[in-house]
Amino acid sequence: MTHLAIFASGTGSNARKIIEHFKNSPDVRVALVVSNKKDAGVLDIARAHDIPTQVLARKMFYETEDLLGILKQHDIGFIVLAGFLWLIPSYLVQSFDKKMVNIHPALLPKYGGKGMFGRHVHEAVKANGETETGITIHYVNEHYDEGDIVFQARCPVRPEDTPEDIARKVQQLEHQHFPLVVEHLVRAS
Ligand code: GAR
Repeated sequence: MTHLAIFASGTGSNARKIIEHFKNSPDVRVALVVSNKKDAGVLDIARAHDIPTQVLARKMFYETEDLLGILKQHDIGFIVLAGFLWLIPSYLVQSFDKKMVNIHPALLPKYGGKGMFGRHVHEAVKANGETETGITIHYVNEHYDEGDIVFQARCPVRPEDTPEDIARKVQQLEHQHFPLVVEHLVRAS
């Protein structure tokens, strides 16, 4: 049995899809949900599914390696970043080499890096007149959005699309693909 931890800062719609996807899995279980925000919606989703939660303080995350002990207690073998907005410190990158993935709501290497999250990404895609956008799932390294890419999916951007329209299309792609790609990567890891 592989135990997953999901890290998320926001509403957690992707976390929810992943939790539901693995609910009846014989060999993969979401065993911990970690957030840097104590009022993040994702924590309510975790509690509703009886999944343990951990709220991170910045000092603990960046100035200690205490999180490694917590992940060990839950026997975590794979980490999924699903809308987690803090940069991952190197002790965690090294401990989960090729066992930690992030999803990004654009076709990296375009529209990545610090500050490029959520609607900022879709507004930039619109402002630049892109004709397509999509999602990228990539391994995590010490830099924002720069680890090896493992999966991309695309959708068209029409001239009349607003950033909200683009966000909706991208979110659909995320929900469709992220749980399946995670399953594939966990099995291969
Ligand atoms: C997702 O669209 C994800 O791609 C994005 O945050 C959203 C979280 O939504 N991540 C980033 O922008 C990372 N740079 P959710 O809380 O509904 O899953």
